[in-house]
Amino acid sequence: MRYFSALILAALVCAVPGAHSQTQPDQPVRTKHAMVVSIHHLATDAGVEMMREGGNAVDAAVATGFALAVVDPAAGNLGGGGFMLIHFSAGPDAGKNTFLDFRERAPQAATTNMYLDANGNVVPRESITGFKAIGVPGSVAGLVYAEQKYGKLTLAQVMAPAIRLAADGYVLSTEEAKDLHASNLTKFPVSRHKFQRDGNFYQPGEFFRQPVLAATLRTIAADPNDFYHGAIAKKLVADIRKGGGIMTLDDLARYSVKERPPVVGTYHNYTIVSAPPPSSGGVVLIEALNILDGYNLGRWPDRSPEEMHLILEAYRRAYMDRNDYLGDPDYVKIPEAQMLSQSYAAAWRNSIKNDEATPSSELKRPEGFLPPPPTMGQVRHESTQTTHYSVMDPEGNAVAVTYTLNNGFGSGVTAEGLGFLLNDEMDDFASKQGAPNMFGLIQGPADSIAPGKRPLSSMTPTIVLENSPDNDPKKAKVRYVLGSPGGSRIITTVANVFLSAADEGLNIQQAVDAPRFHMQYQPDVVYLEDGFPEATMNRLRSMGYALKVGGHWSDAECIAVDPTTGELLGGHDRRHSFGKAAGF
Ligand code: DON
Repeated sequence: MRYFSALILAALVCAVPGAHSQTQPDQPVRTKHAMVVSIHHLATDAGVEMMREGGNAVDAAVATGFALAVVDPAAGNLGGGGFMLIHFSAGPDAGKNTFLDFRERAPQAATTNMYLDANGNVVPRESITGFKAIGVPGSVAGLVYAEQKYGKLTLAQVMAPAIRLAADGYVLSTEEAKDLHASNLTKFPVSRHKFQRDGNFYQPGEFFRQPVLAATLRTIAADPNDFYHGAIAKKLVADIRKGGGIMTLDDLARYSVKERPPVVGTYHNYTIVSAPPPSSGGVVLIEALNILDGYNLGRWPDRSPEEMHLILEAYRRAYMDRNDYLGDPDYVKIPEAQMLSQSYAAAWRNSIKNDEATPSSELKRPEGFLPPPPTMGQVRHESTQTTHYSVMDPEGNAVAVTYTLNNGFGSGVTAEGLGFLLNDEMDDFASKQGAPNMFGLIQGPADSIAPGKRPLSSMTPTIVLENSPDNDPKKAKVRYVLGSPGGSRIITTVANVFLSAADEGLNIQQAVDAPRFHMQYQPDVVYLEDGFPEATMNRLRSMGYALKVGGHWSDAECIAVDPTTGELLGGHDRRHSFGKAAGF
């Protein structure tokens, strides 16, 4: 999982041919009209190219999404799933927000205990590596749906850059070549064949061409239905079944994108628009911000122990609720309005002690607000690697996309004859009550496995609007487009970036660069990236926090809008060397 490995920041800025270089290291990239920020410079270019050709932010987002499936194989994908959040600033939909859910689904043959052995123990890695870990992919359906409903260009136009990159190839940087050594890739012959050249690892500076993937992309561009109903579907299912997986043609044929209302909250003078269930991202983010709205965080310096204490306690409480209540809303009743009410936030705030951590084991949910968490009987059972990118177009429309294969290169399985990797999203379910998943999340019955169900996600594509003086929602202006990978650490990454920018006056590049801190209720540990002063860490310890320090995680690719000039400010995450913020 490359996002959890230690990286040396200094080495990051200069490694890639064509990567954007910034003259002022802590200044964002400024453009007047349009901006794409993504983890790969070629995928950013693909999006910008669409807007130069007259496309809107959705066209750019779809082009970037397909391009990432080629140039960022660890996370960009055709065989995974994700979410797209859109805010329309112009045209008949001005002021509207919408959310496309193209999360993977459990196959119909999935069962609650499918990853347990005869003694009821989780079979190690079965939900993570190999054919059994694969959920029904949603990315192709999601990107095509977005293009056909909200784009201005044709599918062939927005897929052209991806097809070109797959067919002609691109040069691998040091970091990218090293990523292809991942152990889950070397396990599977088809993946080895695709990601190695004649049995040898690619070297930095070599061209990486993907002719089989190019052919698949051409087929999709000509007939997107082929992926779920045609020759691609047949090949994919035959390959998965040969490898021992359970997906069927019927699973693919049943897949559908869900367009859902985003979850919406407020923080000071901002409207927060974010990912609804089956993501936990928006609910947890807004619940934490509701708790924090009662403090004036700006009176403390950014990342001072006093401020971090309040933020960590808000995270602790919101993650406790996440684990107990959240899951696929088509299967479980979620008390969302109660979870996001101001009175509930005030009750949680009252439980936060001055300068003292509340051990998770002693945390008691305020009574009288939420119903008891669902039990197995109340949940319907019938029927790292992720990437985020942000886009704004000349009309002010904003798109935030986070999509994923789950951990780096997903299940490790490349579909034979099709050239794309498949996800291991089944691990986002609770394989066993009380047992942590890959991200240490202990999730409840709400996230148990069931046929057709979408696993609970932490992906948090978020758009923040600044309210107008008369609070007319139609006049609210986009201020931030935010998101990141990082598993359970996604939500706190987004919150960290937002709070530093909104409350502490950091520009978006500084907010993205600042060392991150995370807590998720269980385990009762505060994770700190490298870069916190010793004095801060000692003060946090004296408040009762157990700290785990080291490394870097996630990859926030964000946009801010300068409220005075209207310029777009791109903050690319320099924890990775090959991304770029660019536009015109
Ligand atoms: O949906 C989720 O929450 C996870 N599958 C995301 C995985 C992820 O961010 C991995 N990257 N570090």
